[in-house]
Amino acid sequence: MPAVAAFEAFLRERSVEALRDHPLSNLTTFRIGGPARWLVRATDEERLAGTLAAARECDLPVRVLGGGSNLLVGDPGVDGAVFHLPSLSRVDFGIGGTVDVQGGASLPRLVKETTRRGLAGLQCLTGVPGSVAGALVMNAGGRHGEIGRTVRWVDVLETDGRRARLTREEAGFRYRGSDLRDRLVLGARLDLEPSDPAALQSSYGAILADKKATQPMGRPNAGCVFKNPPGDRAGRMIDACGLKGAREGGAVVSDLHANFILNGGRALASDVLRLIDRIRGTVRARLGTVLELEILVW
Ligand code: EPU
Repeated sequence: MPAVAAFEAFLRERSVEALRDHPLSNLTTFRIGGPARWLVRATDEERLAGTLAAARECDLPVRVLGGGSNLLVGDPGVDGAVFHLPSLSRVDFGIGGTVDVQGGASLPRLVKETTRRGLAGLQCLTGVPGSVAGALVMNAGGRHGEIGRTVRWVDVLETDGRRARLTREEAGFRYRGSDLRDRLVLGARLDLEPSDPAALQSSYGAILADKKATQPMGRPNAGCVFKNPPGDRAGRMIDACGLKGAREGGAVVSDLHANFILNGGRALASDVLRLIDRIRGTVRARLGTVLELEILVW
């Protein structure tokens, strides 16, 4: 049986919730990208594990979509199975500063709620969009810290559907990355520090105000496009090359922060990719540095 028919048969037999040819643009903060052949929305672990294994057996591309905030989906979309699990979003507050959180939970909501409860550790993620799973995979953070250092363990499904519990060390957190990338993150236990709610609230407010002043929050974008190279800042370098406002089709370099590309209207993924190439080429020619992508490209 051809792969597509075999996978369809599996989805039907197991009653797996999946949407066909579903546009991904509305599920990304960039508002760009083609459809997913299947958008898998099952949430019980057994079905999820079986569906991962079936997609692998059928040799179909598999992707896991979090909050869609650090991602450029290509114009053709994904001719495979995209797992999207926003309803896997439970958050349980334990004794002391322990928090058990599922991968589909909203990161901004978690940051806000832990701040309100006087739990320190996630305030460094104030103003960062996306899901907890995506934040873990990317080791999201900024000047003030990263999510990885609060992690006790992460529960994942491996690509073959096996469940595993990884310690912080095994998850391999590093600057804007981890070893979680090809795995499906079910959830994690975080260790936060009970602290003074008023002080946390004021640092939350200060970080948010700083972000609003230095980063474009209004128009669709995918956050910082490039990683900071060792010892320098991608935004500073792109700015120094005079690229603020540079445009390819509907994609434009932000005037506020040069490491952000904005969807200025009807940008295509191909516009963004051309602009990325141009930025990279210019920075390399003028400053001798090859910028590495921070955003994921599907
Ligand atoms: N700068 C310029 N021109 C610009 C942008 C920045 O000269 O157009 C200069 C700034 O003046 C500053 C320096 O570059 O002196 C650094 O800028 P900023 O403080 O904005 O920090 P960043 O290194 O550009 C990092 C993270 C951000 C995170 C902020 C704040 C990376 C690639 N970026 O930005 O993360 O929000 O710190 O904590 O690590 C993201 O990951 O998507 C992201 C936006």
